[in-house]
Amino acid sequence: MRCRIVGAPVQDGAGRMGCEMGPSALRTAGLVSVLSELGHEVEDWGAVQPAAARAIVHGNLALKALPEISAWTAAIAETAYAASQDAMPIFLGGDHAISAGTVSGIARRAAERGRPLFVLWLDAHPDFHTLDTTVSGNLHGVPLAYASGRPGFNGYFPDLPVAVDPARICVMGLRSVDPAERRALNEAGVTVHDMRTIDEHGVAPLLRAFLALVEEANGLLHVSLDVDFLDPSIAPAVGTTVPGGATFREAHLVMEMLSDSGLVSSLDLVELNPFLDERGRTATLMVDLAASLMGRRIMDRPTRSHSGSIA
Ligand code: ARG
Ligand code: MN
Ligand code: MN
Ligand code: MN
Repeated sequence: MRCRIVGAPVQDGAGRMGCEMGPSALRTAGLVSVLSELGHEVEDWGAVQPAAARAIVHGNLALKALPEISAWTAAIAETAYAASQDAMPIFLGGDHAISAGTVSGIARRAAERGRPLFVLWLDAHPDFHTLDTTVSGNLHGVPLAYASGRPGFNGYFPDLPVAVDPARICVMGLRSVDPAERRALNEAGVTVHDMRTIDEHGVAPLLRAFLALVEEANGLLHVSLDVDFLDPSIAPAVGTTVPGGATFREAHLVMEMLSDSGLVSSLDLVELNPFLDERGRTATLMVDLAASLMGRRIMDRPTRSHSGSIA
C-alpha cells in the first residue's frame, strides 16, 4: 500500500510543551523504515505549515491558543484532504488538536467518494468538549466534538465541510471523562467502550462489532491513537497520563484486528511528548503499534484483501 507520512507538530492544544517534537521522535524510532520493510511504499510529506493566525475573541476566557489552533486546523484539514487522494495518510502529532483537521479533511474526502466515514478513537479521554464547555481551555480536548458537528465552533474554527455522524464513532479506552463530555456523548449517541467495559468483555468482541458496522456500510475507517490510550507504565511520554490504560497486548490486538479487517484508510498517532519519554520507549511502542496495524505479524495469518483504501 502507499502510505503518506504527514507531520503535524502542534503543541498549543496541550497543557504543556513538547508535542511539537512528536513527529521527529516517531521518525527517529524508525517509522519510515518499519513501514518500508513491511512492503509499503512510503512517501514523506514532511510537516504541515500553519496558516497565519488571526485574532479571535471568544467568551470562554479559559481557552488557550484559539487563534493558533484554528489556523492549524485549517492547514491540517487541507493537507489531510490532499494526502488522502491516492494513499493512506498517517498523521504524526502533535497533540490531539491535530485531529480536528485530520478527521474533517478525511471526512470531506470520504463524502466526495460517497463512502461513509467511521472513526475509532483510542484514548483515555473522549476529547468531546466544545469551546464553551472546556474547563482546562486546552484545545486537544475538543477535536472529536468539532469533527462530529457539535455546536459552538462556528466562526471560531474553520467551517466544517462534512460532519462525521456520531453513530459512526466508537471511543475505546475511556477512563477520564468530564461531566459536560459525558452528557454530550450520551446526547450525540457516540458508542463508548470505557475501561470497565473492556475489562468485562475484552477488546476483541467490542472491536469486532464495530468493524462489522464499517464493513456492512462499505465505510472508510479513520483511527486516532492517543498515547494515553495505553497504560502509563508502558507509555510514559504523554502529558495527560491516566492509570488503568490498555495493556501492551490489548493495544497490539486492537492493531492486529484492524490490520486483518483491511478497513483502515487513515491513521493519527498523537500526543507523544518526547520530552517526557524514557530513552524513546514510548516512541518505539507507538511505531510498533503502527507496524501491527500495517501488517506486522508474529506468524502468518489469513488476511482479508484491503477494502479500506481511500484511493
Ligand atoms: N478532558 C480534559 C480537558 O479537557 C483532558 C483532555 C485530554 N485530551 C487529550 N487529547 N489528551 O482538559
Ligand atoms: Mn486525546
Ligand atoms: Mn487522551
Ligand atoms: Mn484489562
